[in-house]
Amino acid sequence: MCGIVGGVSKNNNIVPILINGLEKLEYRGYDSAGIAIINHNRIQRIRSVGRVSNIHKKISQKNLKGKTGIGHTRWATHGGVLEKNAHPHISNNEIVVVHNGIIENHAKLCDFLKNKNYIFKSETDTEVIAHLIHYFRKNKPSLLEAVHKTCKKLEGAYAIAVSNKNSNEIIVARNGCPLIIGVSEDQNFIASDISALISVTNNVIFLEDGDIAVIASDSYKIFDDNLNQINRKIYKSSVKENQMELGPYDHYMQKEIYEQPIAIADTIESIIDEGSINPKLIGGLKFDASKYESILILAAGTSYYAGLTAKYWFEHLAKVPVNVEIASEYRYRDAVTPKKQLIITISQSGETLDTLEALKQAKKNGNKNSLTICNVQESAIVRQSDYVFYTRAGVEIGVASTKAFTTQLVCLFVLSLIFAKQRKKITKKNELAYIEELRKLSGHIQTALNLEPQIKAWAKKFSRKSNALFLGRGIHYPIALEGALKLKEISYIHAEAYPAGELKHGPLALVDKDLPVVVIAPNDKLLEKVKSNMQEVKARGGELFVIADADSQFDAEAGIHVIRTNRHVGILSPIVHAIPVQLLAYHVAISKKTDVDKPRNLAKSVTVE
Ligand code: M6R
Repeated sequence: MCGIVGGVSKNNNIVPILINGLEKLEYRGYDSAGIAIINHNRIQRIRSVGRVSNIHKKISQKNLKGKTGIGHTRWATHGGVLEKNAHPHISNNEIVVVHNGIIENHAKLCDFLKNKNYIFKSETDTEVIAHLIHYFRKNKPSLLEAVHKTCKKLEGAYAIAVSNKNSNEIIVARNGCPLIIGVSEDQNFIASDISALISVTNNVIFLEDGDIAVIASDSYKIFDDNLNQINRKIYKSSVKENQMELGPYDHYMQKEIYEQPIAIADTIESIIDEGSINPKLIGGLKFDASKYESILILAAGTSYYAGLTAKYWFEHLAKVPVNVEIASEYRYRDAVTPKKQLIITISQSGETLDTLEALKQAKKNGNKNSLTICNVQESAIVRQSDYVFYTRAGVEIGVASTKAFTTQLVCLFVLSLIFAKQRKKITKKNELAYIEELRKLSGHIQTALNLEPQIKAWAKKFSRKSNALFLGRGIHYPIALEGALKLKEISYIHAEAYPAGELKHGPLALVDKDLPVVVIAPNDKLLEKVKSNMQEVKARGGELFVIADADSQFDAEAGIHVIRTNRHVGILSPIVHAIPVQLLAYHVAISKKTDVDKPRNLAKSVTVE
């Protein structure tokens, strides 16, 4: 939710670095963008609604240059998508601020500042930050002290970057939203994440909540929330610039769908040692599954559906009871906490505020241990967790999660095997059989990817529809949910998912000739039940689009379209069946000419409530 980038250079024009950084951060929010440069005791600002490319054009026209600057891509929370609400925000031509997060007490602060004759030019919560810093500077404290005093007044989550008109420094502060420092020679940077900085440095410092830092071209100083200077470790980021490139693909989502065989293989190999699963490879920590009597999984969106799938694996293989809960619901519930419960959070970004806060709440509720399945090194959720199991998906840029989802599923399956092994619910022979199946998974995914031409043909039919229904049963119900989410997210077609057995309890009333019904129907023990549910749809004139596997044993006929993945792969089947629903959403979006990678109203990292 919103991306921040900034930098101070001794010799270089910072503008191209900011623009490049904003382009990389666009996935975090893309309804408006802006940059501000400090030049000869003046703040020069350029803002525009729409994409970063819009400010790029304006910058070229104005020949904007400078060595100190900050930039922002916005995902609107307070105030509409208007240029006046785009960041940076300026107070009295002196203080300039970009902000990610939400200031919950902004209305109160706004009243206070209006009484002090500050004039507000935007509808944002951010403008209070600029004016407050200006207000605190009136008694001539340093910019650092004024930012520090301001932070003490702010309630809510934020990462901010601040400069003033006669400064060649940037002050940053974080509380609840990510912020990193990029360290380089004769120039230093700040950003919401490493993607914005990989073209200039891979030396990064992850700021912690409460940190304030002063960034100059030849130095950076970090302080705690009492302004005592502190040290933070410099990490070498492994993210490479070419990982962010589209290559031969038209969209990041397409690229990421096709990267799944590799991402899955990398994730599996990261945990296998001499042919066997080695729990020590999870974050290098000693993990003892036998001490837990239950698991609570907390996550949002697609990651939540990964959790729902995993419930079946944990209960089937390890005989451990699992609850899966939407993070934003758990936070505000009086949850009863069983003893010896492991909390598992699942998050691609590791930044999702709902999941992070749910984890904090789970700890307050008395849960002693937590493990996260995450794709981003050193992210906020990783830092809050005792154990980390990294998905090796590589950078995921498309807002619609694809390779992160299937690698999460792989991690969860492996974790359920670890539970089964350490709780002595599985024989060595079975463990090895599952590992062998896991190793074949990338091949099955590749076969599912080969279904693309048939799915493209289906997509043409969907693009004219306003609604769609997805059905699945048992372990494939979460895949139906994921299919419906993918479709609505990027094609804007309203889609619902139901466990197929629920159809007769209400949703069957929706079925007519205009409603496409996607059915996930592999050859598992519920196939006969699913076939009966399909008949219920067919009898009412509904058009069925069935994703089966090679041995599902039914044929296409009028009103029933069938595609087949490889042979049925048992309890790993949901991972294979995720691919056709991703491809379907992708091609429907292409036919509808929507913005696949940056669907309207959404952002990749949701760091607000
Ligand atoms: O980064 P996270 O996995 O925590 O994100 C959770 C959801 O916001 C995310 O999965 C969202 O639903 C995706 N856009 C779905 O494609």
